[in-house]
Amino acid sequence: MIRVETIKELKAILRAEREKGHTIGFVPTMGYLHEGHMTLVDEATKSNDCVVMSIFVNPLQFGPTEDFDSYPRDLERDALRAKERGVTILFTPNEEEMYKRKMSATLQVHDGVNVLCGAKREGHFDGVATVVMKLLNIVSPTHAYFGKKDAQQVAIIWRMVEDFEMDVTIVPVDIVREEDGLAMSSRNVRLTPYERKEAPRIYALLKHAIAQSQTVEELLDVAFKQAHELELAELDYVELRTFPDLKEATKLEGQLILAIAMNYEHARLIDNIIWEPT
Ligand code: PAJ
Repeated sequence: MIRVETIKELKAILRAEREKGHTIGFVPTMGYLHEGHMTLVDEATKSNDCVVMSIFVNPLQFGPTEDFDSYPRDLERDALRAKERGVTILFTPNEEEMYKRKMSATLQVHDGVNVLCGAKREGHFDGVATVVMKLLNIVSPTHAYFGKKDAQQVAIIWRMVEDFEMDVTIVPVDIVREEDGLAMSSRNVRLTPYERKEAPRIYALLKHAIAQSQTVEELLDVAFKQAHELELAELDYVELRTFPDLKEATKLEGQLILAIAMNYEHARLIDNIIWEPT
């Protein structure tokens, strides 16, 4: 594995890869790697000659009261995991390298942004779109891999790539879960043992609501009730939407997403199920 910290060096290496006719798979991350991230690497490895992973905690996507400073970081452990899993090039720029000066232009996302996480995290997806656009321009991958855990992020990036006619295929990857069903997340380490015990109920309630309901109203009713029954977390939202358009779902028809966000004392957990009712 080659570890690269500068954009210039990365571009030079990737130019040589492209000259050899190699395809490039790209996995952007903010690090503190877990099996969710590593599954994206596995998917990238299946279809590409060269797999680039970036680790960059992007300040643009954190609000002033959010956890940018305390976001978990462990670059040395991450580098080891990436190497073991077969990443070809690990790109770990620092803030100065990515944002040498204040960006003179940034992206503003209009569609699919006032719902789910976007409604509560003002400007978050503008920051995500801006950094992903920048990273895609630096890497110029054939394929880029994103987890469905952040389903709104995938939906927004899909649209961005289409709108800007970018030559990259966005590949969505299924959510990777702990054995008890909790969706893997870098923020799970912040849960107390009691919270960690309760947290798998988030996924359980999504499954239960879908399995038990015949109508949209019923489904949301069950989900709300069970979410409020969690003792250690506060419900931020639970919403049923069409996917990937993220419009309000009025019928149990077509591809839908049931998405939830719960606030524990030191961790905001999100989860979802994307499915097509039969
Ligand atoms: P981060 O939260 O580190 O996630 C990196 C990628 O891993 C995202 O595509 C995310 O959806 C995926 N991922 C995280 N947990 C997962 C799980 N349990 N199963 C499957 N995939 C999972 O998302 C970001 O970073 C940033 O917003 C980024 C795209 C890097 C831009 O800064």
